[in-house]
Amino acid sequence: MEKYLSVIELEEAATSILPKTARDYYRSGATDEHTLKENKRAFQRLRIRPKCLVGLTDCNLRTTILGDEVSMPVGISPTAMQKMAHPDGEIANAKAAEKEGVIFTLSTIATSSIEEVAKAAPQAVKWFQLYIYKDREVTKNLVLRAERAGFKAIALTVDTPFFGLRRADVRNKFTLPQHLRLANFEGHLATKIHSSGDGSGLSTYVNNLFDKTLTWDEIKWLKSITKLPIVAKGILRGDEAVKAVEAGCAGILVSNHGARQLDGVPATIEALPEIVEAVKNYNVEVYLDGGVTTGTDVYKALTLGAKAVFVGRPALWGLALGGQAGVQRMLNIFRTELESTFQLAGTSSIADITRDMVVHESVYSK
Ligand code: FNR
Repeated sequence: MEKYLSVIELEEAATSILPKTARDYYRSGATDEHTLKENKRAFQRLRIRPKCLVGLTDCNLRTTILGDEVSMPVGISPTAMQKMAHPDGEIANAKAAEKEGVIFTLSTIATSSIEEVAKAAPQAVKWFQLYIYKDREVTKNLVLRAERAGFKAIALTVDTPFFGLRRADVRNKFTLPQHLRLANFEGHLATKIHSSGDGSGLSTYVNNLFDKTLTWDEIKWLKSITKLPIVAKGILRGDEAVKAVEAGCAGILVSNHGARQLDGVPATIEALPEIVEAVKNYNVEVYLDGGVTTGTDVYKALTLGAKAVFVGRPALWGLALGGQAGVQRMLNIFRTELESTFQLAGTSSIADITRDMVVHESVYSK
């Protein structure tokens, strides 16, 4: 895996070997994919302003997230159906996170179950991503199983009352390959995804089973069934972040679902400052995902107030190329680039990073 020196190289290599349906599903964004491009471009519009001769000490990337220590502020976002990328799927991804000391988030619609992942990576700091199903017993069962299996938080996805329009999946009439199953639903609910014949099977699945009538009151219900901290995943506005915190969330994951839900929403790094500002007087951690592909992206997000960032597709690219080793390679690329950025920017640790380390490019065109 050492021949791959950047996440972009991992992406190019992985997309050249993945079967078309899986590649299109993993890669694509909603409708015209403007936000998909902006998630990356918006990072490039920010400039780092390095300090020199600061008397650097050894670089320390360690931090804590919801009280758990991690080796760096980069974690793995939930992505569905990872066995389409590699036979070991979520298990390989979780083991890589365990080995590298970062957070792994398991999707509700995973091809490995909560219990399988917990058994394979007992020491990993694991979060469970929750979709709330119309059938609350099914939902409750998932949460209780995650808690029992030692998962540390529930990442409640709040941006998916309805499935985003992803044209590639419609064209491909997306279905889960025959040999795979939605492993968390064995004995409870359908474990297969079928295309209705005229579009994406996943879209039919989500729109039939997820509860789109949810309100922030649902957090109270969630808190009544679990003691795990709840992270609201998919926030793009300051006022919504405040609602999430006041409803009882311990974390806010600024996310546009990898630009797969509503096209035309802001890039996540654009939305981040408003959210950090809105919740600055609350006891809450703010994270970001979407378009993070380099160590400098991570650094910029930290500078604008994120406690950590998460990556979705980069883990899928690593997984497709080399299973656990591929995901570890991806994480090590981030680690190397992040260490280099910290040192060259003149900051030895996260505590050294101040808001003035990054400005928008427009500052230089005045
Ligand atoms: C996702 N994402 C996602 N989010 C979620 O809450 N539950 C899920 O099951 C999935 N599934 C999923 C599948 C695939 C293929 C992708 C690419 C994304 C969104 C994911 O958690 C995360 O927000 C984005 O992937 C972050 O953007 P990047 O890192 O992929 O650019």
